[in-house]
Amino acid sequence: MPLVSPSLLSADFAHLEKDIELINSSAADWFHLDIMDGVFVPNISFGMPLVSTIKKYAHKPLDVHLMIIDPDKYIEEFKRAGADILTVHIETCVHAHRTIQYIKSLGMKAGITLNPHTPVSSIENIISDVDMVLVMSVNPGFGGQSFIPQSIQKIKDVKECIRTSQSKALIQVDGGINPKNAPEIVAAGADVLVAGNTIFGSANPSSVIEQLKNN
Ligand code: DX5
Ligand code: ZN
Repeated sequence: MPLVSPSLLSADFAHLEKDIELINSSAADWFHLDIMDGVFVPNISFGMPLVSTIKKYAHKPLDVHLMIIDPDKYIEEFKRAGADILTVHIETCVHAHRTIQYIKSLGMKAGITLNPHTPVSSIENIISDVDMVLVMSVNPGFGGQSFIPQSIQKIKDVKECIRTSQSKALIQVDGGINPKNAPEIVAAGADVLVAGNTIFGSANPSSVIEQLKNN
């Protein structure tokens, strides 16, 4: 049974408390928060004030996905805002090993992310240091995109890399996930499913979360 981390990017920001409560009382495991800077990705989402506000109401860990250049600059601030898991993109890290150690030294779980075009070999040498590998199954920047089919093989390759390096990292997959493609994604090795549009675009979000969990 995978963990499910609903992405608030697709929530109703005018009634955010309602959507937070929905996740609190659902079978979901974490809150996935997408932080976009308009430079690394062609979109701007939200920053620390919203993260710390969500923290006040969320009863589950905050899984914060940074899509920002120079993430080291903001790691302490995200810790203060309430991040429990902090994931950075390998494409934004000049010294990824140092960044991962820094996140962990502040008491957070550390994740490393791969864009669809980034090879698994780029994280091979730090895979035993991370708590989670996030495989992007869409190009980051927007919710509601379609799952890129090659991601299935990539999940399997990450799984193999984790096995050979005896890493304990979880595999998280993010983008274009729905109850229909979730079984194949979990079978390939995903431990954590991120989903936005399929949950918040549904008339019954809790039942979609249940369906994603039942894999
Ligand atoms: C994309 C974000 C995702 C996104 C997923 O850049 O990282 O977390 O919100 O949304 P869906 O499930 O709609 O593809
Ligand atoms: Zn995300």
